[in-house]
Amino acid sequence: KILILDFGAQYTQLIARRIREIGVYCEIWAWDHDPADIARFNPKGIILSGGPESTTEEGSPRAPQQVYDSGLPILGICYGMQTMAMQLGGMVEGGHHREFGYAEVEVTGDDKLLGALTDHPGRQGLDVWMSHGDRVTRLPEGFSVTGRTDSVPIIAMADEARRWYGVQFHPEVTHTKQGETLLRRFVLDVCGCRALWTAANIIDDQIARVRAQVGSDEVILGLSGGVDSSVVAALLHRAIGEQLTCVFVDTGLLRWKEGDQVMAMFAAASEQGGMGVKVVRVNAADRYFSALAGVTDPEAKRKIIGNLFVEIFEEESNKLKNARWLAQGTIYPDVIESAGSKTGKAHVIKSHHNVGGLPEHMKLGLVEPLRELFKDEVRRLGVELGLPREMVYRHPFPGPGLGVRILGEVKREYAELLAQADAIFIEELRKAGWYDRTSQAFAVFLPVKSVGVVGDARAYEWVIALRAVETIDFMTAHWAHLPYEFLDTVSRRIVNELRGISRVVYDISGKPPATIEWE
Ligand code: XMP
Repeated sequence: KILILDFGAQYTQLIARRIREIGVYCEIWAWDHDPADIARFNPKGIILSGGPESTTEEGSPRAPQQVYDSGLPILGICYGMQTMAMQLGGMVEGGHHREFGYAEVEVTGDDKLLGALTDHPGRQGLDVWMSHGDRVTRLPEGFSVTGRTDSVPIIAMADEARRWYGVQFHPEVTHTKQGETLLRRFVLDVCGCRALWTAANIIDDQIARVRAQVGSDEVILGLSGGVDSSVVAALLHRAIGEQLTCVFVDTGLLRWKEGDQVMAMFAAASEQGGMGVKVVRVNAADRYFSALAGVTDPEAKRKIIGNLFVEIFEEESNKLKNARWLAQGTIYPDVIESAGSKTGKAHVIKSHHNVGGLPEHMKLGLVEPLRELFKDEVRRLGVELGLPREMVYRHPFPGPGLGVRILGEVKREYAELLAQADAIFIEELRKAGWYDRTSQAFAVFLPVKSVGVVGDARAYEWVIALRAVETIDFMTAHWAHLPYEFLDTVSRRIVNELRGISRVVYDISGKPPATIEWE
């Protein structure tokens, strides 16, 4: 396994994902994590990440001395290379023109990391992606230059005897074409890791761990129909079978027919194609609609929906007298975010969480088998566990569901219309091959009456807005340029098939300034 020390770069999680894709387990720790743990973790190599700060500034973060004393291979990336240079007696200078984007690196050495890599036949040129202001201007003792560009004489350095490497560019982003090869060389060839981190191995390992953790106790799980909780359900079912009970709350704010689909996929006995998981379905739509009656403020709506979920989940779990454990679909990015260092991680990005807090007085132990996994790994696990691909690779759906896609007051009538309009949109996206080319797409219900002509009569009916975005991280997004003919098909179907909708509009706002959801 590999240890990644994080200096706060946006890309640190990408480094970890790339390494795991290669098949090697790794963890991300904040740079100021207790260094005594490093020996205990026992990695085969250490990566120092990039970071937003400048090593030339007083008090900027440094790698703990243990890293250099460990005798392990080290790869410093961007800030990581600079802090290595500084700490080992080289020099870094700031104040240069910031270099951002593509650059061509001339590979000047024959080291194990960069040696003989090239993107251009006939010359040693690597296309890489840069983002830096500072640069290393003097090598530390023992190092040689292994790469340069026209403007920066030291873009990569290596001390092959100690197996220490530094690169100024970012091998973890896909714009650096040979980035994966470089990381593969580091973790497999230099560090000597073996590629054993595969979906099948992870499943076997987690099954053994869950069995050891819970023994013969009963476990409950809140199944939402989303990817994470579904994968936990499938995994735990395989690990402990009948000891698992899932609680599925049908809020009335889910996707069209989603409740029935979840039950069919998990609960229905195997001859009907289901997995035979014990699922308690709570039909709570009435409770949700009455709790939401008259409420128009988006935050108030979110709170009501979240609290009601906790309330219902608690009621159901109290009925399961023997449950000792609560399973949750916590994934690795949640763990990293809540454990970020106080000083180094200035740039933590908070994700939305579906469930605020679960009842503490229930005194249940936590089972979190996805705690070490990234979303793409969770998806691969899901496929390996036999969940339908279509479900596993579905667009994200917000915890409060249609509650935040019906503007203002939520009513059953609106939810039903919206769910159907949304289903039409999604069905057409899949048919046209656009579903996988968009990151998230959905319909929004606008409680605005607009005039239309339906048949011969004048109608005065509601409006549906369509939203489709392309994004990598959901922090910024572009609206998807769906073809006019496609939008035409969707619009006609919605107006023709749904009574009560006379107008369809397409949202052409980017994020920022607009958010992806409308509330
Ligand atoms: P925004 O609207 O903030 O959405 O641009 C970014 C991503 O987060 C999802 N989202 C939520 N997810 N609970 C959730 O679980 C929420 O309250 C919530 N609000 C937004 C949204 O669908 C998008 O993927």
